[in-house]
Amino acid sequence: MKKVKYFLDKNYKIAEVDSRIFASFIEHLGRAVYTGIYEPDHKTADEQGFRKDVMEVIKELDVPMVRYPGGNFVSGYNWRDGIGPKEERPRRLDYAWRSTETNQVGIDEFADWAVKSNIDPMVAVNLGTGTVQEAGYFVEYCNHSGGTDLSELRIKNGHEKPHDFKLWCLGNEMDGPWQIGHLDADDYGKKALEAAKIMKWVDPSIELVACGSSNAEIATFPSWDRKVLEYLYNEIDYISCHRYYENFGDENDFLGSFADMEKFINTIVSTADYVKAEKRSNKTMNLCFDEWNVWYQKQIKLTDWEEAPAILENQYSLLDALVFGGLMCSLLKHADRVKIACLAQLVNALAPILTEKGGAVLKQTTFYPFKQVSNYGRGEVLNAIIEAPTFNTKLHGNIPIIQSTATYNKEDNTITIFALNCDREDVEVQAELRSFGDLEVIEHVVLNGDDLYTKNTFENPNAIVPKNVEVPVFKDEKLNIILPKLSWNMIRVECK
Ligand code: AHR
Repeated sequence: MKKVKYFLDKNYKIAEVDSRIFASFIEHLGRAVYTGIYEPDHKTADEQGFRKDVMEVIKELDVPMVRYPGGNFVSGYNWRDGIGPKEERPRRLDYAWRSTETNQVGIDEFADWAVKSNIDPMVAVNLGTGTVQEAGYFVEYCNHSGGTDLSELRIKNGHEKPHDFKLWCLGNEMDGPWQIGHLDADDYGKKALEAAKIMKWVDPSIELVACGSSNAEIATFPSWDRKVLEYLYNEIDYISCHRYYENFGDENDFLGSFADMEKFINTIVSTADYVKAEKRSNKTMNLCFDEWNVWYQKQIKLTDWEEAPAILENQYSLLDALVFGGLMCSLLKHADRVKIACLAQLVNALAPILTEKGGAVLKQTTFYPFKQVSNYGRGEVLNAIIEAPTFNTKLHGNIPIIQSTATYNKEDNTITIFALNCDREDVEVQAELRSFGDLEVIEHVVLNGDDLYTKNTFENPNAIVPKNVEVPVFKDEKLNIILPKLSWNMIRVECK
């Protein structure tokens, strides 16, 4: 059996986990909003039309923040279409997803849904077809207390208190030619700078995220990020990045996606630090990884302007969930610079949660690693020193057979180890957990199965669910953990 040496020490830390690393995303895309979180005719709908069954399942994920309303959608969206009496709201063509937008949910409804779901919204302004003036007006409508036309309009629309949204995105993927109103880096830098100034004049307490690169393949990566940061370094708080992974047929390449994500993060961190040096600045720019997931992009089939079409409804397999777990480790391993990350997305579109119109809710395979890491990956990320054999991939070179990270939570005095075993055999991890005192394993939970391509379906919703296995026992601060072949693992340890 292959062996891995694994060292943790209470004093070797990477950073405190910012809970916003477990954020997610709801876009006006397909059935994310309509028949996803909102379905007035559904038997569980509340007085505003929000599905309570979906809300309950979302709560299990402990998502602190949700990005809204897009995504590509936001670059053609007029936020004014979604406020006021519902019967007067316009139906519009959404160019991004070739759908008809009914505007029955807008910013005020989303704010209410977020309060009910115990989630903070992270709001994006339209810098595609939108103007810098409208970006400022949007902040004013949402966050200004009263006494102006727009803040009084919000009050008239039923929200006496300002929404007080704290985090705002300066557009979405403006580097992409697919984006409505796509700009080059100079034009985006100048426009985003003017929008940022106005938005912070309206509410100096907000934080801003500028668009970084949409992926690592785009020709403008990473010079886009450098140029944008050169324009905006002093005005913004985060640079965004987006990355999706797909199984192109080579399982090793796909399993190794975690290595690509780390390389991507490291490149953006280096780029940000280069601009910091150029600017002679003391400010460190952190990352907002505001879109990440597994996404089968080839499967996209847009409709002819349907309302809430069932598009981008990827059904995730066990293999997808393993890769997903590896990506979550990559985010945590960079918690010193990745302060925010949004799983794209939350319901129906590329989501861990699927709904049937008028029917049930399904937890996809990816639901489970997200839930585990979000629930238990809190506290401090420890700097795990891992000596592991490697495996060969075409895309990422030779990489370790184990992708792992660990957190220590002072509040309940527990350590949690997350580990993906990419090997086709069981692997023995010889772990040494130093300076934590007496330790006892609480549980070892495994996600695996006979067939990597099994998915959870409405007919068989529990095909892939985590299982508790026999817990290993400590001897002299040492622990031997068996990670089953091709598995995702969570090992929780109590410090006594
Ligand atoms: O999450 C789906 C889409 O992916 C988003 O709308 C866009 O920003 C990205 O390309």
